[in-house]
Amino acid sequence: MGDASPTSPALARNLSWPHLIAMGVGAIVGTGILTLIGIGADKAGPAVLVSFLIAGFVCACAALCYAEMASTINTSGSAYGYTRTVLGQTIGWIIGWSLILEYSLVVSAVAVSWSGYAAPLLHDWLGVPMTLMNGPHAGGVANIPALVIIIAVAGLLLMGTSKSATFNMVLVAVKLSALALFVWFALPHFDTANLVPFSPYGFGSTMSDDGIERGIMAAAAIIFSAFYGFDAIATAGEETKNPKRDLPIGIMGSMVACALIYVVIALAALGSTPFLTFANSPEPLALILRLIEQPGAAHFLAVTAVITLPTVILAFFYGQSRVFFALSRDGLLPRALAKVSAKGAPVRITLFTVVVVGSISLFLPLGEIVALANAGTLVAFSAVALCMLILRVKKPDMPRGFRTPLAWVIGPVSIAGCLYLLVSLPQKTLMWFIIWNIVGIAVYFLYSRRSAARQPSA
Ligand code: ALA
Repeated sequence: MGDASPTSPALARNLSWPHLIAMGVGAIVGTGILTLIGIGADKAGPAVLVSFLIAGFVCACAALCYAEMASTINTSGSAYGYTRTVLGQTIGWIIGWSLILEYSLVVSAVAVSWSGYAAPLLHDWLGVPMTLMNGPHAGGVANIPALVIIIAVAGLLLMGTSKSATFNMVLVAVKLSALALFVWFALPHFDTANLVPFSPYGFGSTMSDDGIERGIMAAAAIIFSAFYGFDAIATAGEETKNPKRDLPIGIMGSMVACALIYVVIALAALGSTPFLTFANSPEPLALILRLIEQPGAAHFLAVTAVITLPTVILAFFYGQSRVFFALSRDGLLPRALAKVSAKGAPVRITLFTVVVVGSISLFLPLGEIVALANAGTLVAFSAVALCMLILRVKKPDMPRGFRTPLAWVIGPVSIAGCLYLLVSLPQKTLMWFIIWNIVGIAVYFLYSRRSAARQPSA
């Protein structure tokens, strides 16, 4: 059930759980804690700490449901694969379409965020004009460094999954050491006065006079992206040596590690400096270090962000190419896309992904990209929890490598939490998300459904 058919293209199985945990931490720790903590502080004040806890709790529930599905149905395509198996092709396509939105926009967002750190260095060292390193929304022509980093990461993926996953592990270690340094310097400056008033904008998501939605839930809906990324691991099902053991360990291990890291960093950040000083900063953690007179550590953190943010791009790029792979293998996208190279890498899909996510990152702003990525993710997470519950009823005796504890509590909490976060997103984002889905449904009925029906092995 859910496995690739014998006639389908196959990916090489050369990953195990340490690769997956590193891939998870590489995917999870990134723009969320390095940059979005500033946007979150703007939206919720010190109560962004509560936003972190809410987003983390919902994400952990979703991760438990994911772990069960990943250990039960081994297929590339994560939420798409599970939904297609449990709820059928049409719903599967809709979730796959949301996943395309999630993965592609996260790749684009992190590339834009990377460029935000890299641009001043490129300007100082090589004299690259700033107009070539910003999109039109920021007064530039196009964000060329964002495109360049996407092409570089695609090159790594084409060299073979195992090699790039090992390289990823080294970068993850560097990233964690820079964050540990931040906590080391910031925590001694902790002052409870910086946490007062704790929740200046209240709990929900309410439009402020400047047209920006604020409140603990408004921040949680954006901060949510700081926690996801573990689902990129679930897309590696067909390339994992022992998926029943390795996928649940990889997903839950990376999730718990990241939750701990965030709470400590958020406490250190909010306790050491008044939140208004770093709210909306493009580099909040480096700014805080400068404010507490640690310019050397600030520089180290900034350079580390430039070196390590590509690990997040790598993980999501990987997930994105596998979702395209699964969709095209099942005939829902042109099947020629699914062809793999001698090293097991889907070359055409990777190149196609470069074109799509590169174009987005050239021209669109970070905040809007992240909000829309979250919309796709929240819908996909809800679907996975629903599939987990349905499968428990329909196939209670099906072998499962991992069983979600308290499934009938965790599953519904995951669905309700994701939907609550979804409606807490900016209204503009929700409108774009609806448009995206209308396009997806049109593609399905005009092309995908007929194409899949013609395919003998699907
Ligand atoms: N969790 C990832 C990040 O924060 C998407 O960048």
